[in-house]
Amino acid sequence: MTAQRNKTEDDITAEVLERFGGTPDPRLRQIMLGLVKHLHTFVKEVELTEAEWFQAIEILTEAGRMCSDKRQEFILFSDTLGASMVVDLINHRKPDGATESTVFGPFHRLGAPEMSAGGNIAHRDKTGAPTLVSGRVLDLDGKPIAGALLDVWQTQSSGLYDSQDESLGGELHMRGRFRTDAEGRYLIRTVLPVHYPIPSDGPVGRMLRATGRHPWRPAHIHFVVSAEGYEPVTTHIFDRRDEYLSSDAVFAVKDSLICDFERHDSAEGEALRLGIAPPYYTAAFDFRLKPAAEERTNVLDAQQRLAALGARATE
Ligand code: BEZ
Ligand code: FE
Repeated sequence: MTAQRNKTEDDITAEVLERFGGTPDPRLRQIMLGLVKHLHTFVKEVELTEAEWFQAIEILTEAGRMCSDKRQEFILFSDTLGASMVVDLINHRKPDGATESTVFGPFHRLGAPEMSAGGNIAHRDKTGAPTLVSGRVLDLDGKPIAGALLDVWQTQSSGLYDSQDESLGGELHMRGRFRTDAEGRYLIRTVLPVHYPIPSDGPVGRMLRATGRHPWRPAHIHFVVSAEGYEPVTTHIFDRRDEYLSSDAVFAVKDSLICDFERHDSAEGEALRLGIAPPYYTAAFDFRLKPAAEERTNVLDAQQRLAALGARATE
């Protein structure tokens, strides 16, 4: 057969689709055909210029160069483009009473210390308002889950994660792993979460500025809650008073995750026992886990792989 030399844009699309049509794995075939179809449609719809195409290549190159064990510019792109939340919503569709999930973000680190109830994840933070977060981990019937693991992380009151704060020299801070007691209870000592801007010194920041968007995330604390026989949940709790709740830079706020952080001006209860001087804050939040699906989706393992990406790249 003579090769066709006067190809149109649509001929190229058809040819590329045909070439990928022989992909043996059906899921990979579906993904590649969908990717090519939508990528070509996008390029044709906006009539991408060569200069713009080259700029896109430069942006991706710069994003790749920025990635390390402390920085994941591609996750930031996914988050700020809303793709991470679309993936989250597709994968956690049913409103079944379980705690809702939200973005994982790029700041999780492996190796957070295991702490006993009331352990202080903010021991080096001298300026934040002392805060106690407490609650239970329950199953869908409201039965307590003993021995559930809560992997917690948060920014310091400066708005920086430990990995962004050079004065810490790589030390872990504002992170801890807590286990629930026999009644499913947990208690975490920290400082009041603050709103903070996502890193904006790279291509994601330039995208936000060029499009008139702000980089702020509303005040929150991150959790991955897991227990044997249950599906782990990756989520945050958000401070109800925060001004950025309706314009989160990464679209991650869900109503069910908004929580009251209540101010106290006299020491009582756990605060008194732990020697916390007022003023301090308390927040109460119960997590509900659903039973693990028979076919394990292994959410946690996927996240641990992501968290280890940078570390492995330098091995
Ligand atoms: C975070 O909350 O840590 C985060 C999430 C998405 C992008 C940047 C930061
Ligand atoms: Fe965060």
